[in-house]
Amino acid sequence: MTDVIDGDAIAGEIRDELEGAVQRLRDEGVAPTLATVLMSPDPASETYVSMKQRDCEELGIETRDVELPLDSPAGDLYATVEELNDGDGVHGILVQMPVPDHVDDREVIERIDPAKDVDGFHPENVGRLVAGNPRFEPCTPHGVQKLLDAAGVDTEGADVTIVGRSDIVGKPLANLLLDKGPGGNATVTVCHSRTEDLTAKTREADVVVAAAGVPELVDGSMLSEGVVVIDVGVNQVDADTEKGYELVGDVEFESASEKASAITPVPGGVGPMTRAMLLHNTVKAASEQSGVDVELP
Ligand code: GUN
Repeated sequence: MTDVIDGDAIAGEIRDELEGAVQRLRDEGVAPTLATVLMSPDPASETYVSMKQRDCEELGIETRDVELPLDSPAGDLYATVEELNDGDGVHGILVQMPVPDHVDDREVIERIDPAKDVDGFHPENVGRLVAGNPRFEPCTPHGVQKLLDAAGVDTEGADVTIVGRSDIVGKPLANLLLDKGPGGNATVTVCHSRTEDLTAKTREADVVVAAAGVPELVDGSMLSEGVVVIDVGVNQVDADTEKGYELVGDVEFESASEKASAITPVPGGVGPMTRAMLLHNTVKAASEQSGVDVELP
């Protein structure tokens, strides 16, 4: 029997565990607050940002919502970030990626106060992660780590193959899984578009994490019996539906489930975990900035 890992349920448990921390902050007069900044040419970004805001509001986290026209000068975005850095009531800042081509995304990220960088994208926070002393674990990799733990997958000594080397998922996830301690101690292989024999790497893995942004790249023929499969992909592909498209992951679910002992669905797998870990990081930011200690899941 293949276990279909229920990301919605696991994320729900994390949100429930965060409720106490939010309440404690509020009791101490601290209203945890996340600012979102939207200047993204990807039409899906608007939906992602509004889902993140709704999650916050449901948990009692305040939100500030800044939207900039796509043709705004890069300086407007930098100025927005700097205002939010200086804003006393703002604990976390999230600039939704991607930004338009005329804006240098690295420059934007470097301008975010590292203490408010709840994505964990700032070079200081990346450095701390690589050094094994993270401040904010990036949301999607942290969500994958929590999913594996909740699904009873022991990463210690496991061969994990990550397909995709992005700054948002592949690289930080490799660092988290390599770290000493619970949820780490794995032997990690990171594959990418220039990997010569991807199938050889996925077949030797106990855990495959697909995060390449290529629809259904990984199928059952590339997997060994009993593997755990985590699908990070969210791809819109043309389909005969009301919207004219459907969402598929980076894994071909049907054939992969025939081999896997456990697998995440799309949607309902990694996506809700990413959002839960953003709430986690926002609460952590509010706690560290206010000096009010809270217990975090
Ligand atoms: N775009 C896609 N994923 C993310 C994310 O995790 N954070 C931000 N800021 N933008 C994204």
